[in-house]
Amino acid sequence: MKNKKINIIVTEKEIQERIVELGKQISKDYENKNLYVLSLLRGSFIYTADLVRHITVPTKIGFMTTSSYGNSENSIGSVIVVNDIQDNIESCDVLVVDDIIDTGITMEFVKNHVLELGAVTVKSSALLDKPERRKVDIKPDYCCFEIPNVFVVGYGLNYGDYYRNIPYVFNWKDE
Ligand code: IMP
Ligand code: MG
Repeated sequence: MKNKKINIIVTEKEIQERIVELGKQISKDYENKNLYVLSLLRGSFIYTADLVRHITVPTKIGFMTTSSYGNSENSIGSVIVVNDIQDNIESCDVLVVDDIIDTGITMEFVKNHVLELGAVTVKSSALLDKPERRKVDIKPDYCCFEIPNVFVVGYGLNYGDYYRNIPYVFNWKDE
């Protein structure tokens, strides 16, 4: 972007250290449970891949694609299921993983959807949480970082179709 400087919000090291902690916590909490990690595509693919490598209890991993944003910065306030869960999750303790909880509409929708499909329990994890933007009453059970109300990209989060591959979370500020 012209006349803009990269402003790192969460460094690669901070992310990786926090994931180690959360992986330990999740492994402890899901001992003797039937963990099913449900990764919401596309935003959470990198966070999920890193997180599950720090989970030491047996876990299934599945994917679901939802859409609410298109390419703009503003949520349209409703969730579309683009690709549904491919497994029977009836006996599972589902942990829904997303890149960010913003209005909370996506996470609330997916948690309800998972319960309708017969999951035993459902909890949520997000790399980022923007509590100021909340439109529904929801709090992630396992959150890496709370951030202020700024639009960010990197580490799975996109603007247009880009920046998901950047290993840290950032935005731009005027030079
Ligand atoms: P929610 O339903 O409003 O909580 O929004 C969830 C989805 O919005 C996330 O999974 C992201 O794809 C997208 N989103 C929200 N905030 C940001 C942001 O700051 N950067 C990139 N995507 C975002
Ligand atoms: Mg997303």
